[in-house]
Amino acid sequence: MAARQAHQFVAVLDFGAQYGQLIARRVRDLHVYSELVPCDIPADELAAMNPAAIILSGGPASVYAEDAPDMDAHIFELGIPVLGFCYGQQIMAVKLGGSVGHTEKGEYGPAQLGRAGHSRLLADTPAVQTVWMSHRDAVKEVPAGFSIVASTDVCPVAAMECAERNLYATQFHPEVRHTENGRAMLENFLFRICGLEPTWTMDGIIEQKVAEIRAQVGDGRVILGLSGGVDSSVVAALVHRAIGDQLICVFVNHGMLRKGEPELVEQVFCGEFDVPLVHVHAEERYSALLAGVTDPEEKRRRIGTEFWKVFFEEAEKIGGVEFMAQGTIYPDIIESGARKTGGKASTIKSHHNLIPFPEGVHFDLVEPLDHFFKDEVRELGVALGLPEAMVYRQPFPGPGLAIRIIGEVTPEKLGILKEADAVVREELDAYNAALFEETGDRNSEHSCWQYFAVLPDIKSVGVMGDERTYRRPVIVRAVESSDAMTADWAKLPYEVLARISGRIVSEVDGVNRVVYDITPKPPATIEWE
Ligand code: XMP
Repeated sequence: MAARQAHQFVAVLDFGAQYGQLIARRVRDLHVYSELVPCDIPADELAAMNPAAIILSGGPASVYAEDAPDMDAHIFELGIPVLGFCYGQQIMAVKLGGSVGHTEKGEYGPAQLGRAGHSRLLADTPAVQTVWMSHRDAVKEVPAGFSIVASTDVCPVAAMECAERNLYATQFHPEVRHTENGRAMLENFLFRICGLEPTWTMDGIIEQKVAEIRAQVGDGRVILGLSGGVDSSVVAALVHRAIGDQLICVFVNHGMLRKGEPELVEQVFCGEFDVPLVHVHAEERYSALLAGVTDPEEKRRRIGTEFWKVFFEEAEKIGGVEFMAQGTIYPDIIESGARKTGGKASTIKSHHNLIPFPEGVHFDLVEPLDHFFKDEVRELGVALGLPEAMVYRQPFPGPGLAIRIIGEVTPEKLGILKEADAVVREELDAYNAALFEETGDRNSEHSCWQYFAVLPDIKSVGVMGDERTYRRPVIVRAVESSDAMTADWAKLPYEVLARISGRIVSEVDGVNRVVYDITPKPPATIEWE
């Protein structure tokens, strides 16, 4: 919100969350601040936010459908440049007097775009180029004053513009990487057409966030539940940069973190950052809590409830704390639906509801990452000096290793899993690092997104030396994904799998067999419980 006041900003009218999110990310990649706003925002409200440019996102609906997302046509009269993609082009056409119809076949995937005449948006991109299409409807007649500036075989109006009124639109998706000149088109719009400056940089962001946190907190004290995860670690580093020792971190160690993690948290926050840190050793408390529990949901429930109990007990011991910082990030807000109702007030309310504050307990929330995407949070972490091992950490579930141990969690099983998991991580960290070195892309096609060991509740027979063994198997799970909603098992080279298997069996006591999970999500989930 405040970023919007401090920087020139691009409003993305969101006609379907996943489309809008991607556009806002692409704009921010170009160092221009961007935020999603509900598509039906009234023109005067949007004008009051003072956007330097407006982008209309795509969306899954048909513009003529009864409940199709709508927009206020007065937005086109604000004198602010507008760019529409896909549904955004269609609604622009309809609102300004053009029309939309069905194309014969629909068009999905890569398409060859041919340019026609001068275009400010396409500018110096090639005469013929590949773009990404995904539509059945398309603009049939452009509104008065618009010219058609590109077509494909299937779609006569693949791009249209009215340079005089600074209105531009494409049927294809420039925000998708498969549109080979999509970035250049966005650059044309932001920098040449709208005259924006790429000023939204990490240094500027840190400076602004530090000022905001100081203004909110004054000389109050802030408590933060540190989990060792990316978001809470970055919040800790940022809030500490702003208010120093007024921040107290509480690290609840439930004993089900991965090998080396509690030590890393201590080393970084006590050693390097010198943050006041309360390390709560709750390992035994959790061990007792989970004794005899085998049901996955019951494990999750007990671990989650206990976490807040321990945390608030500590907060009470510390005393005199008015604020609680947490690592809420932008997708949490968008996905919780808070955005749809608009405004900060509703956002905070929905988060209050998520935190089970006990009776009589209240903290004001400090959520400095609530408008950042995950990769921006990581960039911020690096800029604040957090180690890469923490910042580029793979996702790890709150209930920790408990939901990777099938059946009852016992100290023996936890010990085995921690050791086996450390081997999987070491080998696949190295595999990912080699791919990164080769491609320069952390999310290159074959890199593993999440990888870990799972311990099933069985034993099997093996032979080691001349001895029969009856020990536990370890399951290796490694997936490619971008958002955890869907995932595929990673097609790891056999030699990598062989090394993992060989190392686990020889280095981890109590294991005589290693298997690889070759199930995508769906139908499986990434975790086993
Ligand atoms: P599944 O197993 O549902 O997991 O495919 C999807 C992603 O979510 C992570 N996950 C969790 N993260 N608390 C979390 O913070 C949880 O209780 C939890 N359960 C699953 C999982 O690791 C994967 O990245």
